[in-house]
Amino acid sequence: MRVVEVTAYGGPEVLRSVRRPEPDPADAPGRVRVRLRAAAVNQADLKIRSGRFAAALGALAPPFVLGYDFAGTLVDPAPGLPAGTRVAGFVPWVAEGAGAGTYAETILVEPGWLAPVPDEVDFTAAASLPLSALTAAQALDLMALPDGATLLITGASGVVGRFAVQLAARAGHRVIALGDADDAHELRLLGADGVVPRGAPEEVITGVLGHAPDRVDGVFDAALIADPLLPAVKDDGVFVSASGERVPVAERGVRVDVVEGRPDAARLKELLELVGSGGLATRVADVLPLEEAGEAHRRAEAGRRPGRIVLMI
Ligand SMILES: NC(=O)c1ccc[n+]([C@@H]2O[C@H](COP(=O)([O-])OP(=O)(O)OC[C@H]3O[C@@H](n4cnc5c(N)ncnc54)[C@H](OP(=O)(O)O)[C@@H]3O)[C@@H](O)[C@H]2O)c1
Repeated sequence: MRVVEVTAYGGPEVLRSVRRPEPDPADAPGRVRVRLRAAAVNQADLKIRSGRFAAALGALAPPFVLGYDFAGTLVDPAPGLPAGTRVAGFVPWVAEGAGAGTYAETILVEPGWLAPVPDEVDFTAAASLPLSALTAAQALDLMALPDGATLLITGASGVVGRFAVQLAARAGHRVIALGDADDAHELRLLGADGVVPRGAPEEVITGVLGHAPDRVDGVFDAALIADPLLPAVKDDGVFVSASGERVPVAERGVRVDVVEGRPDAARLKELLELVGSGGLATRVADVLPLEEAGEAHRRAEAGRRPGRIVLMI
């Protein structure tokens, strides 16, 4: 089968199209094969490819196959999902430690990672969702804010942040979104009560206090800004970072936590259904063939992409 391998740690040029044997379900009892149609390029893929996570990967080293998110068709039946069902999910790539990601024609997955894709949702949209939307939902769970709390979401122009804005607004919170000034109108349509354009930390704090003079109850930091945002948080508030790479030092009783996105089939099913019914917007910035994974990484690394970059397989 066709896969794209990371041949060595480095820039996008280390990604190479090669052929590998199809995975054999006999090697992993309980797992099922999915014939992929789409795989998304996540920030984690870029960090892993560059070697930034090498220490955390233990004995796993290139060559390996990247990729968390996928959408495709079930080859083998899974509980409640006959062969041929359109499914999506994500491979917990670092936790698995196998280097067998979704930049591939066929993968072997745990049935508990899978959710059916509604007819109205195409494969590219479905692949843009699993890791980011589940992480956003799980970050909000971790914050455990009371109804009507005021919440700052950073990176709101990005994929995780955009999902978080929508899900927090649906949960009845008052959302202040920190994002690109050009996205202000769209972020309000998605549910933000206030939009603060990105800028120097003191400008951001002034902007947040303009919308929430008593400061916010919680921050979900999808842009990994960390400490400079603490002055915007109430005493005993909560701060959840999207990555352990940048976590502020707790002060004034603020609870600091890190969200770790994990597969959740039931939740993903609900999120995909919400996309299908128009209740949750996802954006695909570009669709490129699998063989152009290097170009996809270049574009993702350049930033300012209006949504997820998806590889078509
Ligand atoms: N914990 C988990 O399980 C998990 C799961 C998924 C993602 N993540 C992490 O979550 C983060 C967001 O992921 P994503 O997929 O949403 O990435 P993304 O689409 O690139 O979004 C990040 C957004 O933050 C913006 N940004 C960067 N620095 C900023 C700053 N100083 N002020 C304001 N905005 C800023 C980026 O702008 P530019 O485009 O201009 O850079 C971008 O719009 C990444 O670090 C990713 O690794 C963690």
